[in-house]
Amino acid sequence: MQVKSILTADQFTRSDLDLILNKTALIESLLKNHKQLNILNEYILATMFFEPSTRTRLSFESAMHRLGGRVVTAVGMQFSSLAKGETLFDTLKVLESYADICAIRHPVEGASTVAAKSISIPVINAGDGAGEHPTQAILDLYTISVYKDIIHKKIKVGFVGDIKYGRTIHSLIKLLSKYNASFIFISPSEIGLPDKYKEALTNQNIEYKETSDIDALAECDVGYITRIQEERFLDHSTFEKFKDLYIINKNLLKKCREDIIIMHPLPRLNEVSTEIDQMPQAVYFKQAEYGLYSRMTLLLYVTGLLDKLDAFK
Ligand code: NCD
Repeated sequence: MQVKSILTADQFTRSDLDLILNKTALIESLLKNHKQLNILNEYILATMFFEPSTRTRLSFESAMHRLGGRVVTAVGMQFSSLAKGETLFDTLKVLESYADICAIRHPVEGASTVAAKSISIPVINAGDGAGEHPTQAILDLYTISVYKDIIHKKIKVGFVGDIKYGRTIHSLIKLLSKYNASFIFISPSEIGLPDKYKEALTNQNIEYKETSDIDALAECDVGYITRIQEERFLDHSTFEKFKDLYIINKNLLKKCREDIIIMHPLPRLNEVSTEIDQMPQAVYFKQAEYGLYSRMTLLLYVTGLLDKLDAFK
């Protein structure tokens, strides 16, 4: 098997992304007639989740099952041998014989890159601390591509909330930078975009601005809001200060373009009012559904078996 890990959104070229979006659309349409696309029958996915997760882990596992594969799982540091003092390296080393693909979520930035260097099966970064979450960014990009013509039109994306620690935002900026997009980062400066991401945008001549005023969403085609990442704050009072600062509700949407889409990687706390859930602008539950199709694509991508989808057409 050709080993291809997914560690950072940087690794994808524009043509990789166009291919992934096309195959995800194909999978979405194939699943209307098939419950399963049996391509990974001989494969086992290990989901190693050392931080809380619902959608990411379940959608990876469901994606594997829908591809005919099987899954083994280790969840939570406290229930694994890491709690007995084992190193991550030793924990992962055995996976080479137990599984063919490893999806890992870990609180330390760069953990999945270390994992990929330690083992010979593909490693998928399912979130590394405040670093990145590249597979979430793929499903976010797919969601945007369903609602907006990103191939032919320029889009303006407003990111709202915890832009410092929000790893889904870090990865999505990198993917959208390969398309015709500009950005508005809406947050208090204490939890604004880290310098390394700003430098990368500047180096690529990508237009962006920063503000703390949520009304800037009025100019945007896409509004992407995140929860304030409580678990990353060293000082809890800073979290308390920001936790309910921005709330997207009907009143705010009145000021926005009628065709704005509101995205959220979930889980949400108070930052998106449930009063907008039924509005056409609210696409966050669709986004979670698209996670299944996107992750099916990515499991085929890492195993080098994307072409096998053609047999189902
Ligand atoms: C996100 C994460 O884990 O970074 N959740 C997810 O995977 N959908 C966002 C978050 O936890 O706020």
